[in-house]
Amino acid sequence: MSIEQARVVNLRRISDPKGNLTPIEGGQDIPFEIRRVYYTYDIPGGETRGGHAHMRLEQFIVAVSGSFDVVLDDGKARASFFLNRSYYGLYVPPMAWRELTNFSSGSVCLVLASDHYDEADYIRDYDEFLGVIGSQR
Ligand code: TYD
Repeated sequence: MSIEQARVVNLRRISDPKGNLTPIEGGQDIPFEIRRVYYTYDIPGGETRGGHAHMRLEQFIVAVSGSFDVVLDDGKARASFFLNRSYYGLYVPPMAWRELTNFSSGSVCLVLASDHYDEADYIRDYDEFLGVIGSQR
């Protein structure tokens, strides 16, 4: 993967005096079908999440409440994405080392994933990640 494959998507907003709505359709608003949804919340101040890459999994990350940074690393370059709107999402391609930091108080991180949970798809050691990246080049 290359950092250039990662991108922030400006999602549709259906505005209404009663409140706003943002839909996300798998394969339409994001480039994969959604097989899993999870979210992290009650994140203590100063905490960092992530710290791993996925071999095949694609993900789409939304700060549905509050804000945080997503730092992506493809073994050559790093890029930091600040998510702070319910209608922005970050597409994270496979083989991207990710760290999520600077969570604001009360923030909620929604993740849409292309596949079911599979621990075998994780690379949790950074040196191993660099080794796999190197063998793919
Ligand atoms: P992990 O993906 O490491 O969290 P993060 O990237 O947000 O820091 O997962 C943390 C724990 O939760 C780990 O023990 C695996 C478990 N888990 C599931 O059981 N199902 C899931 O869908 C996810 C994402 C994690």
